[in-house]
Amino acid sequence: MKAAVLYEIGKPLVIEEVELDEPQENEILVKLEATGVCHSDLHFMQGAMPQPLPFVPGHEGAGIVEKVGPNVTSFKPGDHVILLVVIECGKCRFCLSGKPTLCVENLPIQMMATLPGGGVRLHKGDQPINHLFGLACFAEKVVVHERSAVKIRKDAPLDAVCLLGCGVSTGLGAAINVTRVKPGESIAIFGCGGVGMSAVMGAKSAGAKVIAIDTLDSKLEKAREFGADYIINASREDPEVKIPEILGEGADYAIEVIGNVDVIAKAFNCIRAGGLLVIAGMPAFTDMITVPAVQFLFGKTMTATIHGDIVAPVDIPRYVDLFMDGTFPIDKLITRTYRLDQINEAFEAMEKGEVIRSIIKM
Ligand code: CU
Repeated sequence: MKAAVLYEIGKPLVIEEVELDEPQENEILVKLEATGVCHSDLHFMQGAMPQPLPFVPGHEGAGIVEKVGPNVTSFKPGDHVILLVVIECGKCRFCLSGKPTLCVENLPIQMMATLPGGGVRLHKGDQPINHLFGLACFAEKVVVHERSAVKIRKDAPLDAVCLLGCGVSTGLGAAINVTRVKPGESIAIFGCGGVGMSAVMGAKSAGAKVIAIDTLDSKLEKAREFGADYIINASREDPEVKIPEILGEGADYAIEVIGNVDVIAKAFNCIRAGGLLVIAGMPAFTDMITVPAVQFLFGKTMTATIHGDIVAPVDIPRYVDLFMDGTFPIDKLITRTYRLDQINEAFEAMEKGEVIRSIIKM
């Protein structure tokens, strides 16, 4: 089968034939229909996070189960699934206390790019190939642990709902689960890519007053379509000045989706006393945040989220239903569709800010 392999940090992906092993105990083989192109992949591909090479990136996949390994009870061939950027072991203190995005299995998987337990099922001849996020979705098929997948209804288009595997759930969850914004409260969303736009949709569905901030007018106009009440182009206007002009004070909540430490500091300055900033973007491994310490005396809080603090088997099927009934039009986030052999173009377009979200259709 074909996969996009990264052999060297900062170099283009190589699209080539690789071998995929049969699923082992508690693993499933999924034929992918589509995979979203997410900025976190680029982070690893450019070396902002350490990672053993070579690896196949791609972590917003959706497809159909083709085979199941021994002891798999939750899936059967023919099931439609969304693959998850974070695994939920179901046994650790975090999984058992309703915080599965903090699952203890995640860090080793993210650092080593293997399946749980350290194995890989991908190789080219004698050369083992790693699975970024324990997945490797820029490929025609994947073998993953069954805890890396959620079953969904069969009438949902896989080439749209694949985005729920990472970016869209992160944005929706950051707004709905983490801030728990209430009707009439204000929320400022910094960054209007796929995650930011999903945060706009989530906040809007909760009845919030939404301020969208970006440096591109095209993305801000789109944010209005997704429900933003106010837009601020930060290349022309300072949100720290503009938000109090709009609201009379700082925002009740802010969400930063870029993972840029300067934007994080700016967003922290834009919330009111007692306000909450949620970092939903992924900063580089060595980044440090500098904010005026005195602001914490005003009861301001800063936290971060992985995958929107969702409980995937519960929240993802629910988000799929809300997409199917039109509440969350996540298909409108997809501005371009590429083939697997065009994947390097897809990343270039993302870096230039030409797309909200693009997908690779297998
Ligand atoms: Cu992602």
